[in-house]
Order: sequence, then C-alpha cells, then structure tokens
Amino acid sequence: MSPADVSAADVRTRLRTALAATTARLGEAGVPSPSADARRLLSAAARTDRPLVLLDELPDDFEDGLEALVARRAEREPLQLILGRAPFRHLELEVRPGVFIPRPETELAVDLLREHAIGELRTVVDLCSGSGALGAAVLDEYPDARVLAVEIDEAAAELTAVNLDAAGPGRGQVLHGDLMTELPELAAARPVDAVLSNPPYIPPEAIPRDPEVIAHDPHRALFGGGEDGLEVPRAVLAWAARLLRPGGVLVMEHADVQGPAARDAALAQGGFEQVMTLPDLTGRDRFLLARRTPGESPAEDERLSR
Ligand SMILES: C[S@@+](CC[C@H](N)C(=O)[O-])C[C@H]1O[C@@H](n2cnc3c(N)ncnc32)[C@H](O)[C@@H]1O
Repeated sequence: MSPADVSAADVRTRLRTALAATTARLGEAGVPSPSADARRLLSAAARTDRPLVLLDELPDDFEDGLEALVARRAEREPLQLILGRAPFRHLELEVRPGVFIPRPETELAVDLLREHAIGELRTVVDLCSGSGALGAAVLDEYPDARVLAVEIDEAAAELTAVNLDAAGPGRGQVLHGDLMTELPELAAARPVDAVLSNPPYIPPEAIPRDPEVIAHDPHRALFGGGEDGLEVPRAVLAWAARLLRPGGVLVMEHADVQGPAARDAALAQGGFEQVMTLPDLTGRDRFLLARRTPGESPAEDERLSR
C-alpha cells in the first residue's frame, strides 16, 4: 500500500471506531436517535459537510473536538444548539441558547399556507416568531413577500431579525412586543394576506419530559397560559381577525388534543369562516386553519382591504 492508502485506511478506522463508540454512548444517555446524532457530531468534529465515507483526512484535534461535542449531547443538550443551526424547509437557520429551537413538524404550516391561500401573498405576519423560522421560510419561498414578525423575548426577537435578514434581506421586520397587549405598530400593518403562528400552547400540567425540551426551550415558548394553554393562541386569533384582509388565512399550530378547543376559540373570536383542523404528516391534529370572512358588501371588503 502507498503512504496515501495507509493514511486513508487509518482515517476510516478512526471514523469507524469513533462512530461505534459515540453511537453507544449517546444510546446509553437516552438520546432518541443516537446513530444519526453521532454522524452529525462526527461531521462537526471533522469540520466537513461531505459524507464521512469520502473523507481521507481528519483534523489533528478530531478526537478531542468530538469528545467535547459528545459530552454535551450525552448531557442531552439539543443537537441543534451544539451545531448552532437547525434545518427548516430549505433553510439552515441560526439557533441560539435561550431561544426555542424550530421543529420539523412546524414546517408543514408553510405547505398549508401554500395550499389554502387565495390571491396574492405579499404581506405575511409571523406571530410568536422565536428564531423566525416561519417568517424566514416565507421570505425564502415567496420572493415578493414581506414579513412582519412579533416576538416578546428580546433575544428571540434579535435572532428573528438575523434569520429574516439572511432569508430575504430587507423584506423582514421584527416587532419586539407582547401580543397580549395593544401593539399600534402591528395594528398599523393591516390588511395582511396571511398570518402564521406557532405560539406557546402547552397547558400548565402537561410538562414535557425530554431533557432537551424542558431544560433548554424557554418556558415562555412552551406554556400558552391559562388552564387550557390557549391564552396566547387566543391572542393570536384576535390579532389575526384584526389584521387579515377578507379571504386572508391564518395557519396556527397547536397540540394534537387541542383541535376542538382551537376551533371553538376561533368561532368565539368571530370574523372567521372555513375554520378547520388539519393533521400533520403522521395524521395527528396539529393545525388550525381559518379564513377571514368577507365583509357584508363589496364596499366593506374594499374598506377592510385598505
Ligand atoms: C413555540 S415558540 C415558536 C417559535 C417559532 N414560531 C417556531 O415555530 O420555531 C413560541 C414563541 O412565542 C413567544 N411568545 C410567547 N408569548 C408571547 C407573547 N405574549 N407575545 C409575543 N410572543 C410570545 C416565545 O417567546 C417563543 O419564542
């Protein structure tokens, strides 16, 4: 074997050994997807996006770097926080400690928007924006759209701005504020074509068990307030009814047991038609869809659209 062949064989042995040991260690720590996470951590330690099998060299500090990353994951720190980014639709979003990590199931909200929106999608509001995931996806996928995002937490509002700016420079705006209060700048945005929201909605007694969630997602991002967890979602409904043009749609995520309660809340709010619950890809009821009712007359529609 040539020296190059020896070195490539040595790299493969180091990778195989590291992958087996890391997968076993993460499995023992209770990580739900130890093999997939191990591969991502090996790639990070190797500082590469290339498939591991194609690597023929590794940084000198590969083993030390990997140990530092694996120790964090074995403590159940979320993989996305360790890597500093999270995939969301076609984007790689920046994530930061203390800000809710975007979840894959939320990605479906943008498909539902695409499916149910009627007419132009030029102005979209993302309520409870967190990292800005939904708004950033809209900017990325609708090059003519502008997004106004609202977020109560200062660090999250800053991260929303970063991710919106990366996805659609100059087309995103962030309002740092509490939806449970009057927000004149938000009210001034009406009429808008769509409202997207993944608000906090967990009821107080349904405490998440995964350490990744309960120790790392901010509690204000999880618990929706009130006995049913729907206090912030009700504020989202009230804002959507105020902001949407006639025919505009709201897509709001909720827990799988909250379909009927979310529909009731939308009907009690008023101003919506075609109020329905839509499932996620596993068939669980996860989204409320509601369309702003048209006005009583074309003249009123015109007024509401102004
Ligand atoms: C479940 S996280 C969702 C974040 C993002 N939309 C996503 O899907 O990844 C909910 C977000 O709502 C924010 N939030 C909670 N209460 C709020 C309120 N009253 N007004 C505005 N934002 C709020 C939290 O700070 C958190 O960032």
